[in-house]
Amino acid sequence: MDRAIIPYGRQSIGQDDIDAVISTLSGDFLTQGPKINEFEEKFASYVGAKHAVAVSNATAGLHLAVLALGLKKGERVITTPITFAASANCVRYAQGEVWFADIDPDTYLLSLESVKKLIESKPHGFFKGIIPVDFAGLPVNLEEFRHLAKAHNLWLIEDAAHAPGGCFTDSEGTLQRCGNGNYADLAIFSFHPVKHIACGEGGMVTTNSDTLHKKLLSLRTHGITKEDMSENHGGWYYEMQELGYNYRLTDFQSALGITQLAKNNEGVIRRNQIAEKYKNAFNGKIKYQSLPKGTCNAYHLFVIEVSNRKGLYDYLRKQNVFTQIHYIPVHKLPYYSRIGYANADLGNAEDYYSKCISLPMYPSLTNDEQGFVIEKVLTFIDG
Ligand SMILES: Cc1ncc(COP(=O)(O)O)c(C=O)c1O
Repeated sequence: MDRAIIPYGRQSIGQDDIDAVISTLSGDFLTQGPKINEFEEKFASYVGAKHAVAVSNATAGLHLAVLALGLKKGERVITTPITFAASANCVRYAQGEVWFADIDPDTYLLSLESVKKLIESKPHGFFKGIIPVDFAGLPVNLEEFRHLAKAHNLWLIEDAAHAPGGCFTDSEGTLQRCGNGNYADLAIFSFHPVKHIACGEGGMVTTNSDTLHKKLLSLRTHGITKEDMSENHGGWYYEMQELGYNYRLTDFQSALGITQLAKNNEGVIRRNQIAEKYKNAFNGKIKYQSLPKGTCNAYHLFVIEVSNRKGLYDYLRKQNVFTQIHYIPVHKLPYYSRIGYANADLGNAEDYYSKCISLPMYPSLTNDEQGFVIEKVLTFIDG
């Protein structure tokens, strides 16, 4: 009998999650109810930020983030090519230009050196911001990026879609949790089901800035506000002060987010156990994402590099192990190639892409299933 499919990632939904959603559905609010504030408060407190703004997905969050920071047509922003397209697309939504810098070949994160070189090759004021990504759950050292950003007057958005519960250690020995806003102006998270916290669709933007918080709240709801009215027209009155969007999360998705968030630490611990088991099995034989000292990887993904990547992908698929590739470099996607990025000099990213493959990584992956995956990978490699 064939084994059931083992995917690369999946949500963990328990009875507590189902009960929370049903209870919200039976209440008075489907959208804009009390669960949204509760989720925002709990999320802000979890990551250690002053504010959190729930949004319909992380892509919307990224869009609001660049708008809140004032990105305008033609302005330039640097990000990594090894990410989901959304990290770059947000710049295009605001009619900005995306510039890619290369990755570090061991951590697979945006390389500080590569960003520095790019910035220093251009006149002062050429770039507006940087969007580093906590790729696969591994937190970027934002303190280093902040020093660089400060020297060149740039803003910083942390794309933490993969990393709720991750952290790095700063130069004073303090643990800095992803999204805590101590170094980045804004951070975004995703609640797509393959991520840590599943809301169906959903996202969160976090910040320590009161000004950015206010701007995000306005842009999330059409640019409409009931606050600071110059005249008292009556209880119904509101003003649309700027062009915003409908990027709201619903009350029942927020209810799910709350119960999912409560289990995130447990999930991250389990993800780390799974990672340890992969590392012990592959050590010295197969390259995997390295872990800088003092960093806690939230392990959204477990990525390895193999020379015959397509062979391994097809072989595992025949065994009902459904791996995935993260990511086709963004500058190679047809849209970005067409608008002039095809020949960008990003050798580490392209070399990484030729070999990377993400193995199953999710809290409910059983020891037996993981043992099967490891056995098949090693059989293929030793083959
Ligand atoms: C790094 C990264 N940023 C942003 C997003 C966008 O997230 P969402 O699907 O919630 O819009 C994703 C989604 O996969 C992602 O992987």
